[in-house]
Amino acid sequence: MGKHSEHGHRGAVSGHDGAVRDGQPARVDVRAVTVTYGEVTALHAVSLVAAPGEFVAITGHSGAGKTTLINAIGGIVPLASGAIDLGRGSGHSLDPSAVAIIPQGNGLASVLTAYENVLAPLRARGHDPKDAAARATQALVSVGLGESGTHLVEELSGGQQQRAAVARGLAIGARVLLADEPTSELDHDNRERVLDLMRAQADAGAIVIMTTHDPEAAARADRVIELDDGEVVQH
Ligand SMILES: Nc1ncnc2c1ncn2[C@@H]1O[C@H](COP(=O)(O)OP(=O)(O)OP(=O)(O)O)[C@@H](O)[C@H]1O
Ligand SMILES: [Mg+2]
Repeated sequence: MGKHSEHGHRGAVSGHDGAVRDGQPARVDVRAVTVTYGEVTALHAVSLVAAPGEFVAITGHSGAGKTTLINAIGGIVPLASGAIDLGRGSGHSLDPSAVAIIPQGNGLASVLTAYENVLAPLRARGHDPKDAAARATQALVSVGLGESGTHLVEELSGGQQQRAAVARGLAIGARVLLADEPTSELDHDNRERVLDLMRAQADAGAIVIMTTHDPEAAARADRVIELDDGEVVQH
């Protein structure tokens, strides 16, 4: 602690242990991060470290700051103070393929089919058409939507839409997977299926950070971090 800056400290984390290779993050290092929206302090001096292979759950009441933390790690909300490092001293300048977000509310494009929603970010990230198609199909099958890919998002149930969003995030194969309440709409079996997939992504070497209101989902993670009014609760 004690390193506070808007954009992270180059070399503060990476480099000395040689753990960073091929642009892959060595870890997620959130240091004393504060995020404000006008007068509201959504996160207050939050710190968190996660290493490859780890599956971390973030819990806390509605409004505690879970989404803000996910979006801060994903580099899509500015920090008022503190630093977030994804292992190279200035995490948010990493190759964007290093981080994937499964957003709360799914964020699917309603004018596209489920398959097209999964495919589009793969093409945008440079996968050739054949590889992108194979990944998209495999991801949809993995969440049990192998038969539903041709449906427009609006033709899917809420749980199916959520699984399509999970498939889109998983298909990327990111080194850091940020999942914001990815099982909130799911029945028991589909929740377990999605949690198995998150676990597998971590076991394959990713850092998986998932928010949840569900104690049973949180219990599947390696560790649980609780937020309360923007602060980490110390147990
Ligand atoms: N864009 C915004 N503008 C202003 N305030 C915001 C904004 N986004 C979030 N907030 C506020 O920041 C705080 C944290 O919100 P956040 O969405 O991170 O909570 P959360 O833990 O994800 O809640 P939930 O469980 O309901 O998803 C809340 O007080 C919320 O009202
Ligand atoms: Mg939220």
